[in-house]
Amino acid sequence: MTETLATDDDREELDLLLRGFQVSRMLRLIADLGVADKIPTDGQVTVKDIAAACAVLPEPMLRVLRALAAFRIFEVTADGSVAHTPRSRLLRTDTLNSLHHAARFWTGPGSWGAWNKLDVAMTGGTPHEAAWSTGRFAYLKQHPDEARLFDAMMANFPDNRHAAVAAAYDFSGASLIADIGGGNGAALRQILARFSTPRGLVFDREDVITAVTSNDLMQGRITVQGGSFFDQVPCGADIYMLIRVLHDWPDEDCLRILRACRAAMGPQARLLLGEQILEPDPARGRATGYLIDVQMMTMFGDARARSEAEFRGLFDQSGFSLRQVIPTASPVSIIEAAPIAGPF
Ligand SMILES: C[S@@+](CC[C@H](N)C(=O)[O-])C[C@H]1O[C@@H](n2cnc3c(N)ncnc32)[C@H](O)[C@@H]1O
Repeated sequence: MTETLATDDDREELDLLLRGFQVSRMLRLIADLGVADKIPTDGQVTVKDIAAACAVLPEPMLRVLRALAAFRIFEVTADGSVAHTPRSRLLRTDTLNSLHHAARFWTGPGSWGAWNKLDVAMTGGTPHEAAWSTGRFAYLKQHPDEARLFDAMMANFPDNRHAAVAAAYDFSGASLIADIGGGNGAALRQILARFSTPRGLVFDREDVITAVTSNDLMQGRITVQGGSFFDQVPCGADIYMLIRVLHDWPDEDCLRILRACRAAMGPQARLLLGEQILEPDPARGRATGYLIDVQMMTMFGDARARSEAEFRGLFDQSGFSLRQVIPTASPVSIIEAAPIAGPF
């Protein structure tokens, strides 16, 4: 086999990947300061004015914005005027499915500290625990600001999964949809906006539920309940959803969550998983899928993204049969399962 030599482009692209953390960290700074909202959508503003509005110095602000402009995030002219580009507009908080929260999240302290300890995963440890001496959700409970950022990031995730799930499945026949581990209810809001009959129930940890505001509840169509899906989940819904929940957990914990759902479900109820199904061949899969998989390893140790066969295996051990896999417009697929009889 002849060796394919690296081109100059390969060298430059690899160098940029090596420095990816620098870009990511600058984006967090810019998002923390709310810079994108201080630039008119279709106009210009001077760096001096942005710096004054952020109470920072103009020169370091210019240098950071210039570096980002080299990635087509903001446009910066030689005389120090700044305007938006399509990419930087995605960082505005008023953009539909804004990436503002994602920009603040990935290098936010909890995630950043855990990734710094990535090495420990290679010998079976959990980087997050090595960094913070506690599990991810306990950490979030102790750091409410980061926890609310996490909820906002989940509600506005770059994959736009909530709108995609609402568009890909017929929820019209359901009276009650329970979103288990549903965060602040973003998925239910998308679904109920499309389907007028169902009501929604968000079930999540107490501290997450306490932070849900009345504006989130669609004039009472959505109710909330706090608790742990390792104990029990509410009965009486027609559809139970677990969206990007199982990938946070190792198999034994997934089985506990699935069995708790199974125990709450009537024979006609349906379970919908919303998960990015892992494509075993990375040449065919999306890079974001493998990055999420490593994010799970970094935050939770044995947690991971799974293939369709692995989901089927979990269902076999928890009283479900897989009915269909429905692709959506986002990388997340809907995996529909029905309860089957028998002790689990
Ligand atoms: C990755 S987030 C997904 C949130 C939401 N389903 C979505 O798609 O945006 C996982 C969710 O599981 C919740 N969670 C974690 N442990 C839980 C537990 N023991 N009981 C209930 N919810 C829990 C978290 O608070 C979080 O909202």
